[in-house]
Amino acid sequence: MFPDFITYLDDEKSSFEGTRAALNFQGRSIPVRNNIARFTPDMNYSVGNFSKLRERHATLQMDSLNGTNERERTILERTGWAPEFFKGKTILECGCGAGPDTEILRKFGARVMAVDIAGVDTAKDNLGEDENVNFVQASIMDLPFKKKSFDIVWCHRVIQHTPDPIATLDHILQFVKEDGAVFVQSYARTPVQMLRWKYALRPVTKRMNPEKLYNTIKAYGPFAFKLTNAIHKIPGGKYFNFFCVPFLNYRHAARFDGMTDAQMLEYGIHDTFDALSPAYDKPISARKMKALAARHLKSPVEIEEQHTITLMRTKP
Ligand SMILES: C[S@@+](CC[C@H](N)C(=O)[O-])C[C@H]1O[C@@H](n2cnc3c(N)ncnc32)[C@H](O)[C@@H]1O
Repeated sequence: MFPDFITYLDDEKSSFEGTRAALNFQGRSIPVRNNIARFTPDMNYSVGNFSKLRERHATLQMDSLNGTNERERTILERTGWAPEFFKGKTILECGCGAGPDTEILRKFGARVMAVDIAGVDTAKDNLGEDENVNFVQASIMDLPFKKKSFDIVWCHRVIQHTPDPIATLDHILQFVKEDGAVFVQSYARTPVQMLRWKYALRPVTKRMNPEKLYNTIKAYGPFAFKLTNAIHKIPGGKYFNFFCVPFLNYRHAARFDGMTDAQMLEYGIHDTFDALSPAYDKPISARKMKALAARHLKSPVEIEEQHTITLMRTKP
């Protein structure tokens, strides 16, 4: 936990109760367990799917444990920022998951306020107790912090999983300092994206019992992994896989070099469940992201729309 954690809270009078098992915040008593303040209840819309991924694949995406530099590479490519840019900055990480970004941001020398609505204990297990990392169980639709208090607001692969992504983006952008930086990634609202198998299947799969859905994907995963590898070799096969086969196989993506086939299969099961199970998956248009950036940010910002993702990032 940050030694100065409570100074970030939107209540000048907030304080820990005697044994630090609770926090007084805006007239409420917020439970603190495992040194994590819990501003939201343990049960929420994210528990059935994202918590399950945390439990089953706790360390899969952690560069320090999976033998790749996939996250570090992705972060540097998507932000365009140099590792030195992060040094000494305090980052509000919105939706940290199991902590794969958190560990890279820490490695680059940042202090990270890592927030998630579910599965935060797994992230804490992955990163350990650290005075430069502060985990918080809260919703990024209702953050307990003072506005304009972070050097960087960071939100990677999360915003589309909230019930109202525009309102969520509008909310989180208020927490960056006037001269601060922002990195937000959203699924893109492009025809290429919206025509994929995922959006045809989700009306059914998001309503399925998460355990049943997970077991189904796990059962067909090994066959789908082999099949998609074979189809990939046929001319045009990668496009067929992309649009038609409900299994995410990244075997041929350079950033996963270093992973074994067994790890890639696990990745495929993880990400296919991640695609089909969330209660919400609402890509935002680049136009709306631009409008929100213009409303909140003083620093020059660019919006880059790719086929499947849109990136919002300030220029250093
Ligand atoms: C696809 S995961 C991404 C996690 C991490 N950023 C990463 O890149 O690995 C989406 C995360 O968003 C979290 N999430 C969804 N809705 C949220 C909300 N309202 N507040 C905070 N976190 C939320 C989920 O619990 C999950 O951990």
